Amino acid sequence: MSKPKILVTRRWPDAVEAELSQRYDAHFNRDDHPMTVAELQAAMRDYDAVLPTVTDSVNAEVIGVANPRCKILGNFGVGYNHIDIAAAKAAGITVTNTPDVLTDCTADIAMLLMLEIARRGGEGERHLRSGQWTGWRPTHMLGSKVTGKTLGLIGFGRIAQAMAHKAHHGFDMDIIFYNRSQPPRDKIDYVKARQCASIEDVLREADFVALHCPGSQENTHLINAERLALMKPTAYLINTARGNVVDSEALIAALKAGTIMGAGLDVYEGEPNLHPGFLELENAVLLPHLGSATSDTRIAMGQRVLENLDAFFAGQTPRDKVC
Ligand code: DGY
Repeated sequence: MSKPKILVTRRWPDAVEAELSQRYDAHFNRDDHPMTVAELQAAMRDYDAVLPTVTDSVNAEVIGVANPRCKILGNFGVGYNHIDIAAAKAAGITVTNTPDVLTDCTADIAMLLMLEIARRGGEGERHLRSGQWTGWRPTHMLGSKVTGKTLGLIGFGRIAQAMAHKAHHGFDMDIIFYNRSQPPRDKIDYVKARQCASIEDVLREADFVALHCPGSQENTHLINAERLALMKPTAYLINTARGNVVDSEALIAALKAGTIMGAGLDVYEGEPNLHPGFLELENAVLLPHLGSATSDTRIAMGQRVLENLDAFFAGQTPRDKVC
């Protein structure tokens, strides 16, 4: 029997590309360009499996091609808002993702953003590198203390729980959160968290608000001007989830007016073309979607895609089946 024909839409770490090639008739996007809709449509017609990433818009137009050969979309990433799940379901195409393996690294980036914006790390480095530093002064570049403050989580899934663990056990922070469903009691108790009845309650009370909800249609602009206005003027917003969860215009306005103190962002609406207003702000730390960007994690993500693929082609239910 011939090996299933697989397309990897972006370059993966060499080690997992090699593993994939041993087991499958694997094809790679050697110049690593973001795929166009036409290329993705062709891929749906020509391959048994397509392994997309967040940079591929696997929409209804792509999934709905006539006579698709593709039977499984093995997403390289945990978030799958770039894939039209309803269309995949309707077309009988299996979708898998890569949870767990990127949880800690993404929570680390959320911590990094929180510390860097509160302690003015980016601003300080720019200050020093541009030759403006004249030496230590008691009133120079004063930031906000992180230890002992209140961290408010919007969403209480794996990454939020990992951030809560680091923040509570490492930085003695009080944890409050909002989650649509009831998380397991032991996860809440482990970080002595308090569950709030609404997003608004979290926004009013937290010193740091960290977003950990999916970038679904219904969460688009969940954090808008009205909700930003509820935050304390001393509070910070941290986003490692998806850019569409925050209304960029509203956030830029709040940061400019100083109605909140700052923001730490790893994801953007329309990335990589983020709103140019962000670039002018000293009170924003901006990272280029680095949440899961460590060598170990990216290898583990590739292996998790492979594990799901192997199960699928062996006629089993993949461990991370989304639909
Ligand atoms: C994820 O895994 O969701 C990362 O943001 C990359 O897609």
